[in-house]
Amino acid sequence: MNAISLYAKPSADFDAKVAESVALLQRAVRDYAPITQASSLGAEDMVVTDLLQRHHVQSSIFVLETGKLHPETVALIDRLESHYGREVDRYYPNPAAAAAFVAENGEEAMYRSLGLRKSCCDIRKMEPLERALAGKRAWITGLRREQSGARAEVEFIEHSQVTDRNGVESTRTKINPLARWTWGDVWHYIATNKVPYNPLHDQFFPSIGCAPCTRAVTLGEDFRSGRWWWEQESAKECGLHVAADGTHEGEEPAAFEPLSAVSVIPIRAIPN
Ligand code: ADX
Ligand code: SF4
Repeated sequence: MNAISLYAKPSADFDAKVAESVALLQRAVRDYAPITQASSLGAEDMVVTDLLQRHHVQSSIFVLETGKLHPETVALIDRLESHYGREVDRYYPNPAAAAAFVAENGEEAMYRSLGLRKSCCDIRKMEPLERALAGKRAWITGLRREQSGARAEVEFIEHSQVTDRNGVESTRTKINPLARWTWGDVWHYIATNKVPYNPLHDQFFPSIGCAPCTRAVTLGEDFRSGRWWWEQESAKECGLHVAADGTHEGEEPAAFEPLSAVSVIPIRAIPN
């Protein structure tokens, strides 16, 4: 059984969702250029990249190459580049900061305390993210409402005021074209469009982050239960999308039509 045979199951309005996502991406590039896609190389992000390519949406693509990704994930960067004939921008942690953190706290610091785990995410993800977004007006993500309770309110377009580590304030816009998609929609799209994907998805890794902080899930476990599995549910974000106090980025969502009601269904990694 591979991920496609396990998960692909389109919603009744799948075609409408695809059209809605394409319209959003086209509007985003018109209204917010220059834009860039943040890709973790997970299934959702591979779908977004395919939509960008197929519909000629002008956007760069970047990966936060934390230095802790699985070899399968790193290999997918090259596969993506050769499949689509385009380059992906890779952002690495500051080598001195990463080395100093490991020298002081060890390779397994993230398991010892939430504070150390967040410091590691800050060095390997948050600071590189600032570099990746410098000069961009908006970024595109693969966030879906169904992924977790903390993401149930994700809007198609979100604006937030951010202050970078030099104290400079700016407005950041996030575009979430798959906000309304189900996991079944994602895999139906991958199957029908022959999108390359991370082989870890065939081994019961639904949500994939850094190797030390991601494990496979078992029957009945929730979608993100393999991420930071030793932590309380409320802490399980790295700061890319949900602030440390649990508030979600983008309190003032911009209107995007058409929007229809969404039901938030806790999804299972493996169908019962
Ligand atoms: S995380 O905050 O828990 O790590 P998650 O893995 O669910 O996030 O991914 C949500 C979105 O964040 C992805 O669709 C992608 O847009 C972005 N993202 C996550 N990790 C990375 C990464 N390593 N590089 C670039 N973008 C990422
Ligand atoms: Fe470090 Fe884990 Fe955060 Fe990756 S997810 S940056 S390894 S703490």
